[in-house]
Amino acid sequence: MNPHLPADFLWGAATAAYQVEGAVDVDGRLPSIWDDFVRVPGAVLNGDTADVACDHYRRWPEDLGIMKQLGLDAYRFSVAWPRVIPTGRGEVNALGLDHYDRLVDALLEAGIRPFATLFHWDLPSALQANGGWPERDTAYAYAEYAAVVAAKLGDRVKDWNTVNEPLCSAWLGYLEGRFAPGIKDLRQAIHASHHLLLAHGLGVRAITANAAEPANIGLVVNLSGIEPASDSTADVEAAARMDGHVNRWWLDPSNGRGYPADMIEVYGVEPPVVGDDLDVISAPVGYHGLNYYFRQIVEDDPNGPAPRARQVPVEGAATTAMGWEIHGKGLADLIHRLANEYGARAIYVTESGAAFDDKVAEDGSIDDADRIAYLEEHLGAVAGAAEAGAPVKGYFAWSLLDNFEWDSGLSKRFGLVRVDYDTQVRTVKASGHRYAEIIAEHHGRHRLP
Ligand code: IFM
Repeated sequence: MNPHLPADFLWGAATAAYQVEGAVDVDGRLPSIWDDFVRVPGAVLNGDTADVACDHYRRWPEDLGIMKQLGLDAYRFSVAWPRVIPTGRGEVNALGLDHYDRLVDALLEAGIRPFATLFHWDLPSALQANGGWPERDTAYAYAEYAAVVAAKLGDRVKDWNTVNEPLCSAWLGYLEGRFAPGIKDLRQAIHASHHLLLAHGLGVRAITANAAEPANIGLVVNLSGIEPASDSTADVEAAARMDGHVNRWWLDPSNGRGYPADMIEVYGVEPPVVGDDLDVISAPVGYHGLNYYFRQIVEDDPNGPAPRARQVPVEGAATTAMGWEIHGKGLADLIHRLANEYGARAIYVTESGAAFDDKVAEDGSIDDADRIAYLEEHLGAVAGAAEAGAPVKGYFAWSLLDNFEWDSGLSKRFGLVRVDYDTQVRTVKASGHRYAEIIAEHHGRHRLP
């Protein structure tokens, strides 16, 4: 697959602060909405918390060693807002910022390019107490936070993700209530969606204005190809609605098309656009960040919640431990869609990966052949898209480490590296070794013994 990828293709792996760091009450960090949510009975499988997770806040030097061993070109991590401005707005916590300062220095020293995500769902609880994302003020608070981080790290960090998967924060957090803060309210969800996009736009401005070096900035969206379960008019229309809900609601405004009118009608709620918000949201970006996990086959659900469409299982399909269909071609389709329909000129696959029920052999090794097959299938799709001319610039495996998988707790393992949560011992899985081999082949060198 590698010959078809550009020579400067970037090989990375990703994590997110809340999922890996632990140390939730260390060095002045205050709670985020996830610290609160994990304590709601029944919210997270097995009552797991991320209080310790991978202890990456303390063990990052060891994890950096693993990144070097894998030969990564880039590491996508997120900065924890509740560490940097623990009350969400106002006083900056130097100790929290210093952590990322050290991490960035060490990454650069190791020749690994830092991709910093500013918001990966850990909204400071103090801001949720004031209404959270449904409130416009939260977007302004985010812009202040983005400015602080950019001023501190922007002399060294060149690549920034403003907001990760606003869909999950808005739809899962405020519409379905499956994620923090656990609210089920369509109006709040629509308002949250707009303020998350506004935060992205204000973030682009804040980073550009405060980073000492030119910044390459992108929004990271999670997209799914949507197909109707049958050719009935009802299912075809349901698929269009689901496409609006999952894809167009985020892509259209951030690419200068405004909110899709058909979806405003489906929701029956206007997004709270004020003044030049739509210009702010669609300010030019350096790249499009694409997270891909599955496509969706959908049928009409006339009495269901918005968007009155539901995903149905694909008969006979291979699935991951999350129950998500394995469909590598869907990744190539979305790369082409971003390029052809939305004019993307640089695309990073900012997340792609799978949870499987890994088995640890007696000698401690993890022969995760299923994850290797998944990785190769998806990289093959990326290479195919690149060969067909799509401007895909890099791939970040989700995830570097097994970590806290939100409402699934610690039960679902996405890592190229296993984390034993009892001992914190890290073991590179066979998929991690395979990824290292692919990277080394691509670079035309062999870093691993
Ligand atoms: O673990 C998550 C990540 O935080 C965001 N993208 C999807 C991953 C797998 O569910």
